[in-house]
Amino acid sequence: MNSGIAKFSFPTTIYFGAGAIDNLPQYLQDITIKKPLLVTDPGMLKTDVFPKVEGILKSSGIAFGLFSRVNPNPLDSDIQKAVDIYSDEGCDGVIGLGGGSALDAAKMVQVIAGHGGKVNDYDISTGGNQNIRGPLPPMIAVPTTSGTGSEVGSCSVITSVALGRKFLVCSPLLIPSIALLDPELTLGMPAALTAGTGMDAFTHCLEALSVKDFHPMCDAIALKGIEFVAQYLETAVKEPDNIEARGHMQLAAMMGAVAFQKDLGAAHSLSHSLSAVCHVPHGLANAICLEPVMKFNRESCLEEYAKVAACFGVNTFDMSLEEAAGKAIEAVTDLKKRIGIPEKLSAVGVKEEDLEELTEKAFLDGCHQSNPRSCTRENLRDLYREVL
Ligand SMILES: [Fe+2]
Repeated sequence: MNSGIAKFSFPTTIYFGAGAIDNLPQYLQDITIKKPLLVTDPGMLKTDVFPKVEGILKSSGIAFGLFSRVNPNPLDSDIQKAVDIYSDEGCDGVIGLGGGSALDAAKMVQVIAGHGGKVNDYDISTGGNQNIRGPLPPMIAVPTTSGTGSEVGSCSVITSVALGRKFLVCSPLLIPSIALLDPELTLGMPAALTAGTGMDAFTHCLEALSVKDFHPMCDAIALKGIEFVAQYLETAVKEPDNIEARGHMQLAAMMGAVAFQKDLGAAHSLSHSLSAVCHVPHGLANAICLEPVMKFNRESCLEEYAKVAACFGVNTFDMSLEEAAGKAIEAVTDLKKRIGIPEKLSAVGVKEEDLEELTEKAFLDGCHQSNPRSCTRENLRDLYREVL
């Protein structure tokens, strides 16, 4: 195959707008789901969202199965229990409702319901994902947070109870048939979660833009996502009922995940390790680590960062690329302050003695391999140390 041929793939059908959830029965019919399994987490049952979705389904006479015990980091045992309900209830499709965990779990329910076997049979690290050949039961993803963009992503992160570690399953067939983005479903998100998940979306856009692969479509999507975060994240944090801000953050999250089909970078390696070793929430970990990574990458990303500065409203017309790139880093620092992200990892419980394990796990993480500057163990340790 000619390696100079680029592949661009944007397969998800996306419905966006306040009140879109009211059309759920129609969307189910469009993709021929007669009896969905609704996959969600226990926290969602206590919100206004779950009864709303339940009411919409019931009032349309749509019978559904329910699995509402997805763990915050979904376990392979969760998936098996959900698949048992799927089979017992005679379901023929899946609705994932919630944050990234519920959506990731719902994706794997599709796989096991469609192909059988155990969840870790499909672990990407053993090549198991090659066994996902389709067709899979159809799925509608309904996100209630604005960060991971899992609703348009091709991966699922699952924790194996037996192995005691997370593993990744990725396949284009995991991309949900429909992403239903209704910003009204995100109104209940608390400020800290809005800030952290919003910075995750920002980091997806920024790291995707910085990766040196040729993908002009993802670059354009990443820049628009960055512009939305620059314009709307602070408002979403400070005015939780502002539907315009919530909607734009929902778009930014979705666009970040579309853009990072290009790949991610070192900030994600640092944050994956921080979540695994010190249980720092993913978006918050990204947010804290982003500035040292931007400074580290700066010389390799002058043009990209100059465009980021412009997204923040900086007039870069008379600036050198170096100066404009510096303004982008300043703008990120300023945004983080305004939305209450702490400067240092020590503020979220990370200690000096965690540094070696953090560094080792970050080095083993694959994301930094697509970072615009290659990273040694020492580089990663230094990046942590800058914000310790
Ligand atoms: Fe992320």
